[in-house]
Amino acid sequence: MNIETGLVRPFLTDEEWNLSQTAVKESSNRLDARSGPGAEWLGWQSILEEPNDALLETMESIGAEIREKSDVFIICGIGGSYLGARAVIEALTPEFSDNGPEIIYAGHHISGRYLQRLISHLEKPNADGSKKQVYLNVISKSGTTMETALAFRFLRKWMHDRYGDAAISRIFCTTSKEGGALNQIIKANGYRKFILPDDIGGRFSVLTPVGLLPIAVAGIDVKNLFYGAVECYQSMKTDRRNLSEYVSARFALYQKGYAIDLVTSFEPALTSLGGWLQQLYGESEGKNGKGLFPSVACYSTDLHSLGQMVQDGKRNIMETFLNVVDEDQSIKIPLESKDYDGLNYLSGKFMEQVNDKAFQGTLQAHNEGGVPIFVAHIEKLDEASLGSAIYYFELATAIFVYCLDENPFDQPGVEAYKKAMYQLLGKKD
Ligand code: PA5
Repeated sequence: MNIETGLVRPFLTDEEWNLSQTAVKESSNRLDARSGPGAEWLGWQSILEEPNDALLETMESIGAEIREKSDVFIICGIGGSYLGARAVIEALTPEFSDNGPEIIYAGHHISGRYLQRLISHLEKPNADGSKKQVYLNVISKSGTTMETALAFRFLRKWMHDRYGDAAISRIFCTTSKEGGALNQIIKANGYRKFILPDDIGGRFSVLTPVGLLPIAVAGIDVKNLFYGAVECYQSMKTDRRNLSEYVSARFALYQKGYAIDLVTSFEPALTSLGGWLQQLYGESEGKNGKGLFPSVACYSTDLHSLGQMVQDGKRNIMETFLNVVDEDQSIKIPLESKDYDGLNYLSGKFMEQVNDKAFQGTLQAHNEGGVPIFVAHIEKLDEASLGSAIYYFELATAIFVYCLDENPFDQPGVEAYKKAMYQLLGKKD
């Protein structure tokens, strides 16, 4: 994983560049010395320093068992408790495959309509008339998040109504070691539990059971994913030049007044990785009036919605492209005897060659239109490359937020809406 900054550098003066590099160096040192704010939340690094192979094997074997037995697997969680799993699953599993269970997300909003439709779907029999075999993984570090807890209340009841006591072996819970309502529910019902260590925050937790169990259920090799991150972690200990250059350029743009970082890709399978990054950046940076606003798009789809704004709107946008280097080349454009659509000039080319030209053309047009552009090169659409990208972005986030002189690992602002909502709902305590 490396990020190219060549299409950003012309937007910065030498002075801006040098100042930013100094800030990044200091922040990087602060992180390594564990002397910055939130240093008690660096477990996302410790797990890579000392990989827990036994845990990876447990994730693999339970994941395989659920995969084998289930028609539907529900991932119930919000924010950092589901975005990482979703990013990896959607990047690595074929969109239209019927191999393995259907994966459904829940607990990531409070829509009653969605929940009702979900339950109706669970009740619908399989094509052969058999009842759907449903398994559920509820994930909540605090164990008290309303969105997740409410959905779990409905789904838990449905599971117990459908399976009786056997529901216990179909419900898997991931939460903190102690505390929180979820721990009480686990204890009272005897559900299987996995622990998210106290020193890892939600949005840094994809390489713990939070992300690994659902990812394993999706049939993805969690060892390769994890060890891809370990490799990146080890290499960043000795050579952080590319990452420092990226963070320096991004911080310099921020200092210069750029406000929006639009994360995008010409590979739709990476849209959810953009969603994970949006949360990682957004919740880590947005404090005390600081930070870049992260947004996600999928190109070329969104060139037909946001393209005009990016090309020609207010010049405060930077773009970050997630680019897969080793693209799949399986579909060739056919020749037609009557060239009505005028596309015969492309016949014999792979679709990915056309997609790549769209990518290159967009880079050129947006850059000439005044948009500084980062290109993140992800070697392959595979486990190891994604693991590496995950750690790269986690490290970049921590260093960038230290440049803002803020704590990358808390999210006090998220409490405000909860407080107002609880008040409106008449919650007592
Ligand atoms: O990054 C974070 O810590 C948050 O996004 C949380 O993951 C999110 O709010 C869900 O919290 P919890 O896992 O406690 O339900």
